[in-house]
Amino acid sequence: MFKKFKIKTFGCQMNIYDSQKISDIFYKIGFKNTLSDEDADIYVINTCHIRNKAKQKLYSELGKIYKIKKNRYENKKKTILIVAGCVAQAEGKEIFKRAPYVDIIVGSQSYQKIPKLLKKINKKAEEKVFVELDFEPKSKFDELPKDKFTNEISSYLTIQEGCNKFCKFCVVPYTRGPEYSRSVEEIVDEAKSLVNKGTKEIILLGQNVNAYHGLDLNNRNSNLGKLIYTLDKIKGLKRIRYMTPHPKDMHDDLYSAHKDLEKLMPFLHLPVQSGSDKILKEMNRNYTSNEYLEIIDRVKDCRRDMVFSSDFIVGYPGETKKDFENTLDIIDKVKYVQAFSFIYSPRPGTTAFNLKDNISLDEKKERLIVLQKKLKFYQESFNKNFVTKSLEVLFNNSFKEKEYQSLGYSQYMQLVRINNKINMHGKIENLKIKKSFYKSLEASSVI
Ligand code: SAH
Ligand code: SF4
Ligand code: F3S
Repeated sequence: MFKKFKIKTFGCQMNIYDSQKISDIFYKIGFKNTLSDEDADIYVINTCHIRNKAKQKLYSELGKIYKIKKNRYENKKKTILIVAGCVAQAEGKEIFKRAPYVDIIVGSQSYQKIPKLLKKINKKAEEKVFVELDFEPKSKFDELPKDKFTNEISSYLTIQEGCNKFCKFCVVPYTRGPEYSRSVEEIVDEAKSLVNKGTKEIILLGQNVNAYHGLDLNNRNSNLGKLIYTLDKIKGLKRIRYMTPHPKDMHDDLYSAHKDLEKLMPFLHLPVQSGSDKILKEMNRNYTSNEYLEIIDRVKDCRRDMVFSSDFIVGYPGETKKDFENTLDIIDKVKYVQAFSFIYSPRPGTTAFNLKDNISLDEKKERLIVLQKKLKFYQESFNKNFVTKSLEVLFNNSFKEKEYQSLGYSQYMQLVRINNKINMHGKIENLKIKKSFYKSLEASSVI
């Protein structure tokens, strides 16, 4: 029988959540986790399709695993290689053409079927093709293991899957399928069970998390704001966050939650993508830069210390220098404290794929550098501002060298480190900040 599994995860937080669920499937049937590639009897690659580079990671990874699988085979050890996630969903059987040594391909909404596929593959060793690509989010959540096999301080909890927005550049509506929301009851049960196991912070996840509309106990459609009010009541839960919201789906209950609930953290990732109204329209984002700024102001009116992060795409087809400057302007207005930024990557199957690309690669790279320099300035300045001041940090990682080195996140999602004699794991403390860096802070003492 197989004994050990390894999962390598690419992509977003939802893929991390899925990988944890896949781990739980293996734990449940008696497998152990291994960190070594050579020891894995089952090797899962959970893939991302969002940009071409993300997809390429699958194929470079497969090359490595092929050699290991071959070596193990020569030593009479079988390896089952599973490709899961968004590339599996998008490319399906095509993957076998480039990598015939893959055993199972399983799309992003069918992980619950892994045990069945494993049984099948053990029976019919000679049959090669096992592909499962149905969109079945309901049975995915119904059938995946409910209980976590590991304890964490900060936990992801997927409440919503898929997307109906169809931004013209994006593969998510194709790789994750249409929007699906889990019921309030199911989510509250999962949250309580996490808190009982030691979780102090829950990060609610969805590709379009504020489009959440799951059924409540009275069989009425709820929304993200209402859901957060319900979760806020869980004793022992200290912090709540959510990602990724779409500006268009911010709603009254959610604004109120930011105003009323201390546990809802004052950091919001609200991707704008571009500051140009023309490009936003062409992307099918459904808001103008002014509308976006009004949303930011409204969130700030609810909680004065609110800070923001965003995703940006540069070099979208048709983006002129002026359009790009508009994006720089919006950064100056919002003063994001964190951000992810990418050069536009044309994705097969999306509407934008056939648009004429009229910007040279050098120009795109140049724009990305300028943009990232500005973003860095605001992130660094924000962090610098806290030197000698205090931040509240939830520690989720602690290890001992001479002293303990503990790592955690502030309420504003800054990474904070402290070296002292205490094991801070799981504690929430007010700390005095002594040094600041571009992406992190160092604390001197507990206040
Ligand atoms: N639902 C979220 C985004 C999910 S995808 C939202 O609407 O904002 C995560 C990020 O990847 C996006 O915000 C976008 O900035 C980036 N992205 C998506 N498709 C891309 C593409 N084709 N090229 C470059 N970046 C892309
Ligand atoms: Fe992609 Fe747009 Fe949906 Fe976000 S809202 S997942 S960018 S289609
Ligand atoms: Fe990537 Fe799929 Fe997430 S494409 S970003 S892993 S939803």
